[in-house]
Order: sequence, then C-alpha cells, then structure tokens
Amino acid sequence: MAENSILNLMVAHHALIESLFILFRDEAKEKSPRTGASFSEFKWEVKKHFFIEENAIFDFLPLKTMSIYKKIIKLRDEHITMIGYLEKFSANLPEIKNQDLEDFYELLEGHREAEEKELYPILDKEIREDQKHQIIYRINEVPIRITKK
Ligand SMILES: [Fe+2]
Ligand SMILES: [Fe+2]
Repeated sequence: MAENSILNLMVAHHALIESLFILFRDEAKEKSPRTGASFSEFKWEVKKHFFIEENAIFDFLPLKTMSIYKKIIKLRDEHITMIGYLEKFSANLPEIKNQDLEDFYELLEGHREAEEKELYPILDKEIREDQKHQIIYRINEVPIRITKK
C-alpha cells in the first residue's frame, strides 16, 4: 500500500476489519458452517493490526503530552479486552452469545473512532516527518489487506 499518512493506512485496515467482523458476526448468529473460517480470517487481521499499532506506532511515539500518553494506555487496554473476547469466541465457536458479539462490536467501534478522530490525525500533524516515514515504513513491512478476498 503506497500511502503517506498513518491515518489513511489505518483507516483502510479498520474498514477491512469491520467488514470481516460483520461477516463473522452474521454467520455466528445464523450458526453457519462457515463461521470458523470467517472467524479465523477476522482474528488474523485483528492480531496483525494490533501488532502494528503496538509495535510500529505506539511504541515509537514521543510521548510528549500526558493526553497522548493517556489515550495510548486506554487503547492498549482495549486491545487486551478485545483479545480476551477473541479467545472466548474461539474456545466455543458454536455457542457464541449474541450479546457478546454486540458488546464486542460496540467496543471495536468506539476504539476505531478514538483512533481515527483523536489519535492518528494528531500524530500525522505533530510528529516529525522522519519519524512519520519510519512508522509508515514499518507499517508497510507487515502485509495487511485492505480489501476482502
Ligand atoms: Fe487499536
Ligand atoms: Fe486501529
């Protein structure tokens, strides 16, 4: 992906993750035999996404202000909560509760909004160009998809 902003790259991947989640959620609710394959695809992209954010973006930031620092702590905590949901879903795929799917979705959406509105635009504006280039270079070293297969 040739992109020159952190926001654009991550927004594109957020959109893919959301569409993979919706597919998995709908199949899980219908108890479709495809649920396992869709879940596996979804989980794979989510884990790559979190890896990129935590290792290529969050870890790399000059934590100049308390407000960015606090945002990142919260986002990291939410990653841990979401991974917990994924483990729970994976332990019992045929019996996933609709309420858990909806709770997860709400968390995912809130998380996405916080990153897209409150974090990535600020980073694109405030970090040095050389740092931005290095972050984008590292993001691009982890192959992520932006469209469904
Ligand atoms: Fe995130
Ligand atoms: Fe994200």
